[in-house]
Amino acid sequence: MPSDILRFFRAWMFDPLRVASITPSSAVLASLMVSEISSRTGSVIELGPGTGVFTHALIRQGVSEEKLVLVEKGAEFAAMLGQRFPRARLLHIDAVEIGGTINPDAELCGAVVSGLPLLSMPARTVTAILGGSFAHLREDGCFYQFTYGPRCPVPDKMLRELGLQATRIGHTLRNIPPAAVYRIARHPVPLRASPARPPAVTAIRERA
Ligand SMILES: C[S@@+](CC[C@H](N)C(=O)[O-])C[C@H]1O[C@@H](n2cnc3c(N)ncnc32)[C@H](O)[C@@H]1O
Repeated sequence: MPSDILRFFRAWMFDPLRVASITPSSAVLASLMVSEISSRTGSVIELGPGTGVFTHALIRQGVSEEKLVLVEKGAEFAAMLGQRFPRARLLHIDAVEIGGTINPDAELCGAVVSGLPLLSMPARTVTAILGGSFAHLREDGCFYQFTYGPRCPVPDKMLRELGLQATRIGHTLRNIPPAAVYRIARHPVPLRASPARPPAVTAIRERA
């Protein structure tokens, strides 16, 4: 929508580090981001929805609005998301707080879709966001992240320390700028005790 492009550009002028792009992601990038998600995925957490391009794509994939948790730090976007997706759960917070925010008794999620500018965040912030996200993900749950850079925005060392692995699932030139999408999942054989693996889930795996 033209008004979204204007709104996004204004938000970027006001806070370029947080918004990190002059325009919302394209429909092609949105389709790639949600390509592995369906109605069978269960609940989905979206980090940094902005104007909701990925949110619309998730709903088109069959995820019901009630199964969405939208985590947005920007007041300008949070107000708009609340109006556009009234049945989704909206958390107007910093994604770094995600680990302690969602009700621990809530159903574990099947996916986290992230539009966050991880490359402009300090390493300890990225570690907290990944650790917090995986605490809410089922054992088979995945974290999807796009990047404008040439490699995964989460460094190999951090992935190893968190017991995670990243796979590039595709890229598109039809976005400004061109972008690639990574799937980050738990490493099948944990290299060592990891903060990304919630203790209860680990215990169940060991008993099985
Ligand atoms: C590159 S934009 C992506 C927006 C949208 N997902 C898209 O692809 O068009 C980054 C988004 O993340 C939000 N954001 C940045 N840092 C954040 C944080 N620490 N916690 C939550 N949201 C954040 C911004 O406000 C913005 O909505």
